Amino acid sequence: MIQVTDFMADIVDDIKARVDVVDLVGQYVQLKKAGVNYKACCPFHSEKTASFVVSPEKQIFHCFGCHKGGDIFTFIEEIEGVEFSEALQVLADKAGLKVENLSKFMNKEKKGVKEEYYKAHELACEFFAKQLYKTNDGKKVLEYLYKRGITDDTIKEFKLGFSPDKYDALYPELLKKGITKEVLIKSGIVSAKNLADERIFDKFRGRLIFPIFDYLGRVQGFGGRALKEGQMPKYLNSPENVIYSKSKILYGLYHSKAAIKENGQVILVEGYFDVLLPYQEGVKNVVAVSGTALTEGHTTLIKRLTQNVVSSFDLDSAGFEATKRSYAILKAEGIEMKTMGSFDGKDPADFVLENDGEAFKKMVEEAKDFVAFFMDKLVDANDVSSIDGRRKVIKELLPLLKGVAPSSKDFYVRELSGKLNMKESHLYDELEAFKLPSSHPARKSAEVSSKNDGEGKELFSKLEGLILAVLLKKVNLFSEAVKMIDETYFEEDLKAIYNQLSDQYNSSRTGVEKWNFDKGFSTEARGKVDVLLLYAEEVYGMISEDILKDELQKLVDKLKEKKRSRSLEDLRSRIAEAEKGGDKEKIIELLKEQQNLLTGEFNG
Ligand code: CTP
Ligand code: MN
Repeated sequence: MIQVTDFMADIVDDIKARVDVVDLVGQYVQLKKAGVNYKACCPFHSEKTASFVVSPEKQIFHCFGCHKGGDIFTFIEEIEGVEFSEALQVLADKAGLKVENLSKFMNKEKKGVKEEYYKAHELACEFFAKQLYKTNDGKKVLEYLYKRGITDDTIKEFKLGFSPDKYDALYPELLKKGITKEVLIKSGIVSAKNLADERIFDKFRGRLIFPIFDYLGRVQGFGGRALKEGQMPKYLNSPENVIYSKSKILYGLYHSKAAIKENGQVILVEGYFDVLLPYQEGVKNVVAVSGTALTEGHTTLIKRLTQNVVSSFDLDSAGFEATKRSYAILKAEGIEMKTMGSFDGKDPADFVLENDGEAFKKMVEEAKDFVAFFMDKLVDANDVSSIDGRRKVIKELLPLLKGVAPSSKDFYVRELSGKLNMKESHLYDELEAFKLPSSHPARKSAEVSSKNDGEGKELFSKLEGLILAVLLKKVNLFSEAVKMIDETYFEEDLKAIYNQLSDQYNSSRTGVEKWNFDKGFSTEARGKVDVLLLYAEEVYGMISEDILKDELQKLVDKLKEKKRSRSLEDLRSRIAEAEKGGDKEKIIELLKEQQNLLTGEFNG
């Protein structure tokens, strides 16, 4: 953690006043209004029902599944995986505060290595962009881009560039601007045999440059397309480094995230141009996996924004295998995938160039649910009048059918039984007997998500927490509570909260009408209160006071019962110990106590 000076505290408050938690979180997850709060599926753990709540009034978020929660700073720390100082920078930017002023107040060594990497990439990006318009070789590349249908606006928006065909065009400039050799080498902006090597040289030479942006719009890597016959590889990409991980990058996401949320759908394509052309022609909800297979890292990014994917991958045999695999990975996270038909052997970029955005949009609208798509493809490819042919279709389809929801399962089984001329019951038998291999992504994720759900529930079914939530929500019920319980029912921070309420209750002669949450609570307790209140709103928001009173009674009864059985257990082990030691007097005393407990004379 960085040193928090008074000035820093001011900045934090300033930022909090300017950046709204709903706006901020809404840039990452699809929030739905639910009463006074907003809800979404949690971006931090795997779940299918929304237990992630954002409160505009309290300016906090909390997940009742995995219990991650906090304010705008915590949110950025968690979702971007960064430390406080970087979250501060990011949020200061959003708040429109000058970052330069901030960095003065930050501990030098805590500022983080990442920042220098970002700086290096930003400078390199500027350099490449300039070459495209300002050099003769660059202008030829510009012509190439125009020929591919890319406009100046798109070039500027995506900051496309050109790296001259030289070994020392870029790096001397970056060194001059204070970027260290180490960062240049490690980020893959230059090449060198090793860190100690004196000779470094530009890695990207004679290439069209696609800067790759992270979720916040910072350049974190480059893809460079070959421009000459025989220049290998066709695409040269930044290597993995502290700010760039290929499996977590979707090209175009920074630009398309708003459209993805708006459309409730993301179109997955393969290449850089396949993003740019549809985007430019008005289909903006598109991202590319950039030549790699879809990973769980990608899924995490997608899931924050939408549950609907339309894939437009190549449908040759390798492409189809990749599509199948993507389907399984997405399905395992509860994301539905549709598949677009083929573009007569072209990729989306060329299809859009030869037709237009509308034609592409139409293809998106006509995309078919992947299982249906696959089923048709299999039936077409096999002779289903033969037993062998039918067996093959069934064998390929079973792993997919196993994973679909029961309602869709019935639909597909009916379809398939028609197409194969087989009884539905036979297909159900096959399905029943089929087991997913343990390596299948659908299985892995089911295990993970059930584990998460379990962990989550435990903390908040804690009776003490629930009781406090009720009391925080309905101040009137406190007078009921004091007849049944006291502070000994609570532990640690919950006890502190109870005592504070109790103080407010006792010090008011006319009775408290409203809790004062700004008085007497420590910062930590205050944070807990917010979460408990949020919880109360979620669980008891619509419930009348009468019913809440009953609820309180039930909770207290349960808590007493729990305490009683805990004391009994405790007594049993103490009796056993006394018996071992042969302490007769002690045994009799303990047995009496046990008798009292069992006959119900227990008062806490
Ligand atoms: N790719 C890569 N490395 C390669 C080849 C491809 O990273 N050696 C990635 C790039 O992101 C590329 C995508 O895979 O955009 C798809 O590859 P390909 O279809 O070969 O390229 P296109 O995007 O179609 O490029 P172009 O239209 O210019 O041929
Ligand atoms: Mn292409």
